[in-house]
Amino acid sequence: MCGIIGYTGEKEPKETLLQALKRLEYRGYDSAGIATLEGGDFRVYRCEGRLEGLEAKLKDEHLQSTIGIGHTRWATHGAPIERNAHPHRVGSVVLVHNGIVENYAHHKAKLEAAGRKIQSDTDSEIVAHLIDQKMAEGVAFVKAVQLVLPTLEGSYAFVIMSTTEPNTIVAARNGSPLLIGIGEKEMYCASDVQAILSWTNKVVYLEDKQMAVCTPSRYEILDAAGVPVKSEVKQIKWTADELGKVGYAHFMLKEIHEQPRALTNTIEGNINHSDEIIAIKDLGLFRKNLKAINRVSIVACGTSLHAGLLGKYYIEQFSRLPVEVDYASEFRYRNPILERDNLCIFISQSGETLDTLAAMREAKSRGVPCLAICNVRDSTLAREADATIYTNAGPEIGVASTKAFTAQTAVLYMLAVEMGHIHASLFKTQYQELTREIVRTPFLMEKVLGLEESIKKAAAEYQDFRCFFYVGRGIYYPVALEGALKLKEITYLHAEGYPAGELKHGPIALISEDVVTFVLAPQASSNPPNNPTTSRVYYDKLMANLEEVKARNGKIIAVGTENDSRLAERADVFWALPSAGWAINPMLLSIPVQLFAYHVALNLGTDVDKPRNLAKSVTVE
Ligand code: G6P
Repeated sequence: MCGIIGYTGEKEPKETLLQALKRLEYRGYDSAGIATLEGGDFRVYRCEGRLEGLEAKLKDEHLQSTIGIGHTRWATHGAPIERNAHPHRVGSVVLVHNGIVENYAHHKAKLEAAGRKIQSDTDSEIVAHLIDQKMAEGVAFVKAVQLVLPTLEGSYAFVIMSTTEPNTIVAARNGSPLLIGIGEKEMYCASDVQAILSWTNKVVYLEDKQMAVCTPSRYEILDAAGVPVKSEVKQIKWTADELGKVGYAHFMLKEIHEQPRALTNTIEGNINHSDEIIAIKDLGLFRKNLKAINRVSIVACGTSLHAGLLGKYYIEQFSRLPVEVDYASEFRYRNPILERDNLCIFISQSGETLDTLAAMREAKSRGVPCLAICNVRDSTLAREADATIYTNAGPEIGVASTKAFTAQTAVLYMLAVEMGHIHASLFKTQYQELTREIVRTPFLMEKVLGLEESIKKAAAEYQDFRCFFYVGRGIYYPVALEGALKLKEITYLHAEGYPAGELKHGPIALISEDVVTFVLAPQASSNPPNNPTTSRVYYDKLMANLEEVKARNGKIIAVGTENDSRLAERADVFWALPSAGWAINPMLLSIPVQLFAYHVALNLGTDVDKPRNLAKSVTVE
């Protein structure tokens, strides 16, 4: 939700700010702006809409500055129009903000009573006024920021400049991500590391309630009382090359195709090949918590929640521990029943989703061991969790999550197998077989990607349908939810995921010749341990549900297993997956539903990587 960048150094910052904003655009893209400081005055450029508009505006501008800040917005307070775009300039101060100042109305009333004219509808401009007001009373810039911050309720990351200190950028964080990038005679402040990776891989993550004061040659981190604190400089391993599209038309397509590699990177290092056993290295000492637990809660949002639903099947089947899965936004406020011998797992690609973070803080305050599954190293979730298992999927830029989802699923699979081992609910032959199956999954995924041509054709054939159901049973049901989410996120078509058995309890009323039902019905080469007939039963029941749709002239796109002529004959379109176990099939099934959504979106001409109204990292509640 909003990307922010700041630069102070020796180079003219226009290109740097624009390039950084391009990398941050996934966080919001309804307006954008930059401000620089030269000759004792600010130059502020803002534009409604995508970043291209701002680029065009700046094309012929020759700036003489060596300092600047920038912002790309996902509107919360105030419509996405130029007047509400950041940076907000007030007197001697200009700032950009990510987050929500919840008590802004209270401050606004007082500022207006003091005769101040508020130009925008945002909460952010109010903060610029508050700082400027303090400075007008004679307080120095850094001190003024420090005095204003404790009066703000809600979440924020700010990057601020003042005409009184022309080389200095002040950054402050509470609840929204912010880091300092350390370059050669230059400093950066940014919402995430991707924004600055072209120039430096040395970063310091700000903690909540900390401020940073940056000049080209030094930075200082201050705590809430203004006392300098020590900070750890982290070296980031991602490279700027990983952030490009490398020949793909969209990040989403690149990320779909990267899944075999993302899965390999996520799995490797966690397998003891000689004993054919999974031992997740990131678990470290946290592993001892796994033995004592008797119940698991999985908490996440969006696509990560769907991975969590798959995790429920894995953990329950492999370790026989009960698992509940919650939307983070619900978990936090429902006073969940948590005991110290529970385990809470929080899943997040970005590690910055506010709902998930808040849910984890709630669980931690109850003394429950908290494990994070996260793709972004040293993100807030990862730093605050008791332990973090990383998905090594590499940077995910497309707003619609793809490779992070399958990598999260692979981590949950491995965790569940390890828990099954620890809780002695799997025989040696079983966990060895499960280990072998996950190791070969990336190769199977390569095969599934080979379906793309046929998926493209179907996308062209069905792009004008307006209603899609995705149905599956058992462990395939979460993929139905994910398939529907992918389609609606990037095509804006109406899509719903259902457990196939629920179709007859309502949705079937909508089935007709202009409705498409995606039937996810692979056969399984193995069954859940101690449940030898499950896959067969699910398959047979799904076939019956398919007949119910056909009887009402509904169109059927089926994803099944190779050589399944029964399913192939009944479906209008059939895609065959290579044969795999019940627990591996969800990862394979994900690819056709992702590719279908992608190609429909491409045909409809929507913005695949930056769909309307969405943002990749949602740092507001
Ligand atoms: C946003 C994104 C989704 C994502 C969700 C959770 O809504 O648009 O794609 O699944 O946030 O994000 P996280 O980073 O916590 O996995």
